[in-house]
Amino acid sequence: MLKVGFVGWRGMVGSVLMQRMQEDGDFDGIEPIFFTTSQVGKPGPDIGVDVPPLKDATDIDELKALDVVITCQGGDYTKQVYGDLRGSGWKGYWIDAASTLRMEDEATIVLDPVNRRVIDDQLARGAKTFVGGNCTVSLMLMGLGGLFEADLIEWMTSMTYQAASGSGAKHMRELLLQMGALRDCVADELNDPASAILEIDRKVTQAMRGGDFPIDNFTAPLAGSLLPWIDTKLDNGQSREEWKGSVETNKILGIQDNPVPIDGICVRIGAMRSHSQAFTIKLKKDVPIDEIEERIAKHNEWVKVIPNDKEATIAGLTPSVVTGTLSVPVGRLRKLNMGGEYLTAFTAGDQLLWGAAEPLKRMLKILRE
Ligand code: HSE
Repeated sequence: MLKVGFVGWRGMVGSVLMQRMQEDGDFDGIEPIFFTTSQVGKPGPDIGVDVPPLKDATDIDELKALDVVITCQGGDYTKQVYGDLRGSGWKGYWIDAASTLRMEDEATIVLDPVNRRVIDDQLARGAKTFVGGNCTVSLMLMGLGGLFEADLIEWMTSMTYQAASGSGAKHMRELLLQMGALRDCVADELNDPASAILEIDRKVTQAMRGGDFPIDNFTAPLAGSLLPWIDTKLDNGQSREEWKGSVETNKILGIQDNPVPIDGICVRIGAMRSHSQAFTIKLKKDVPIDEIEERIAKHNEWVKVIPNDKEATIAGLTPSVVTGTLSVPVGRLRKLNMGGEYLTAFTAGDQLLWGAAEPLKRMLKILRE
């Protein structure tokens, strides 16, 4: 039985991973061992099978005894432990949610509905390090996989609308605090249908700009506003999040030697845990829209084409609809005025499921096949 060590299972991504593994009975047939950075010796979680007390996540000898490590602990942990563990001669499988190792040659980015062939090739070559992709990249590929598979994309832009969860649990809480503060500052006016909307707007703007507004985590108002920058700045003016869109997509697809150019602007908006993206796609040829829809729809069992009309879009293509589901709707599909080779599309998807936990969960299952 595979000995599988779990690190960072209590955090947001880790909790979603635990939940999904329990839903699908993935703890059956493995020996799960839970690790901690702060509570060594305490009882492990209740997952329906017996587990030993928590072990020290930095103890290389304990980690060396495992066949597989799955970590959602974050990049600092990976930096702290991975090199020493490999340096000790450990040949087990390392499955990681953090971005630290993603672009290393020894790491394969996992998104098996899209790149199972790449994963299988790497396993056959003896690869042992598998890393989940950036959330917007994984969600984009789950949606547009059919177009990449048919090699129809010459280049594309992705303009993102990213949820608070991508920054972490504290940020989700802060978004709600901001929403509450805005509502509270005009509670009386909202109860009075005769109150003036411009006065409400003035008060809300004043509250957002005031010293008491809760911005410790986002450093600026997100509720009632947006933040057109995610992650650090690179020398070329891109944000790191924007850079990932191109390099990770091409690595996932195994086409770094002949990459598809992808670029855009990544924006944080006041959604809770589902990211959305608007694409402009330059096709290699003028493919009819019904063929495009068919290719997208048949690529995997989670993608869903939403008809390009208002009712279907509002009902099926929003963060609030997809949150908590594995569904990846793709809609607003139409040719742009620029010509038949120019396609636009919009997608939404749960950032914690396909964007984080699900590819890791599925990689563990692949190792058990
Ligand atoms: N970097 C992403 C975001 C989340 O900030 O939304 C992790 O992939």
